[in-house]
Amino acid sequence: MSKTETPIIILNYKTYMESTGKNAIQLSKYVQEASQETGVNMAIAPQAVDLYPIINEVDIPVYSQHMDAVSPGGHTGSTLPEAIKQVNASGTLINHSEKRMTLADIDAIVEKAKELDLVSVLCTNNVKTSAAVASFNPDFIAIEPPELIGTGIPVSKADPDVVSNSVDEIHKINKDISVLCGAGISTGEDVKAALELGSEGVLLASGIIKAEDQKQALIDLVSLI
Ligand code: G3P
Repeated sequence: MSKTETPIIILNYKTYMESTGKNAIQLSKYVQEASQETGVNMAIAPQAVDLYPIINEVDIPVYSQHMDAVSPGGHTGSTLPEAIKQVNASGTLINHSEKRMTLADIDAIVEKAKELDLVSVLCTNNVKTSAAVASFNPDFIAIEPPELIGTGIPVSKADPDVVSNSVDEIHKINKDISVLCGAGISTGEDVKAALELGSEGVLLASGIIKAEDQKQALIDLVSLI
């Protein structure tokens, strides 16, 4: 599967203990198995410190959660885009609500991702910001209302207009951008509703990471696609 084939499920590991270190490696194997068994394209976004061991364990697309708009040199504590490329990551999340960036840095990082052949998943919080950043031409725009993140209340049901209107406004600017949605997604019904609203996949975290049986939760998640 290509790293940008849709529909796509992108699992953001964030910084949960259940998706850190050895747990992150095991979860990544579950995602790979679920993707192979269901035939649905799945990608993961572990913490930077876990990228290298995970990329050497699985064949599914592995994205960074963030990259800093810095060049090689004196930028202590930053995540250099070239370093993400060198560990063979497939792409990166950009401007997640939990790691907000300036417009100038978003522009710079989307350009840098293109230069390094890294998939860009640009996160937004409403229709206006989705339309605003569409001119940067990322591969994906993931619309995620922050107030729904981690609530288990799916955006595709709680605020369907933000998804469908974002799709419409983004595609007025660039029809090639694939729109994802996220926040509160956890079931097959949530994913089905998201696709019916015009999105081409979902970005999610807690519904899978905190599940009793993470692999079964992933299989159930795509059972209605
Ligand atoms: O990046 C996806 C994330 O912000 C959604 O979180 O826990 O509501 O699936 P969650």
